[in-house]
Amino acid sequence: MITKKQIIQWLDEFANVLATNKEYLTELDSAIGDADHGINMNRGFSKVKEKLLTVEDKDIGTILKTISMTLISSVGGASGPLYGTFFLKASTVTANKEDLNSKDLGDLFQIGLDGVKQRGKANLDDKTMIDALEPAIIRYKEKISEGESLIDAMKEAVTAAENGMKNTIPLVARKGRASYLGERSIGHQDPGATSTYLMLKSLLKVLEN
Ligand SMILES: Nc1ncnc2c1ncn2[C@@H]1O[C@H](COP(=O)(O)OP(=O)(O)O)[C@@H](O)[C@H]1O
Ligand SMILES: [Mg+2]
Repeated sequence: MITKKQIIQWLDEFANVLATNKEYLTELDSAIGDADHGINMNRGFSKVKEKLLTVEDKDIGTILKTISMTLISSVGGASGPLYGTFFLKASTVTANKEDLNSKDLGDLFQIGLDGVKQRGKANLDDKTMIDALEPAIIRYKEKISEGESLIDAMKEAVTAAENGMKNTIPLVARKGRASYLGERSIGHQDPGATSTYLMLKSLLKVLEN
């Protein structure tokens, strides 16, 4: 079970992690993009951190919808609308909920992933955030269906996200700015896959505490 308080702690933790990794993410984006991913994510999630204080007593759906709107309105670049879509879709399956069981979390992940894929038209191996998100969600749902606990399934999901992130290194980018580089995008880790890995790792950290 994940409580509403843990959802807030997750987003707050992710905001802190993004602040710490702002330079690192921007450096990754300087190799195959325009050197702003860390700046974009940090800007958005600093706003999210402020907003969280105003929605503490709301249901999880409302919290996630507020986060989504904040990201869409404050983050320029591809990542704002994409992360915004993830949280907007996630808000639809968590409306009026005060906590989430392991199936609810799987539904949140799945609809969020579907939304990002629809919006960005990217698939696995296009060298985007999908390469971290999709394997993580597949692994999470697999482990839950095998009867593992939410936290054990999340551990597996974070490992899958980390592998997916590393797997972006040899890929040719087929979506987003990095795709303009074609073959020259080979040999670099995708910034968005990296921030997505950090997002899932932040949730695991909160659950383990
Ligand atoms: N169509 C897409 N679908 C999914 N993710 C994408 C897409 N386009 C870009 N991304 C992700 O966005 C990241 C770049 O984000 P950011 O630098 O903030 O935006 P921008 O590319 O506009 O500068 C990429 O590393 C990639 O993971
Ligand atoms: Mg960029």
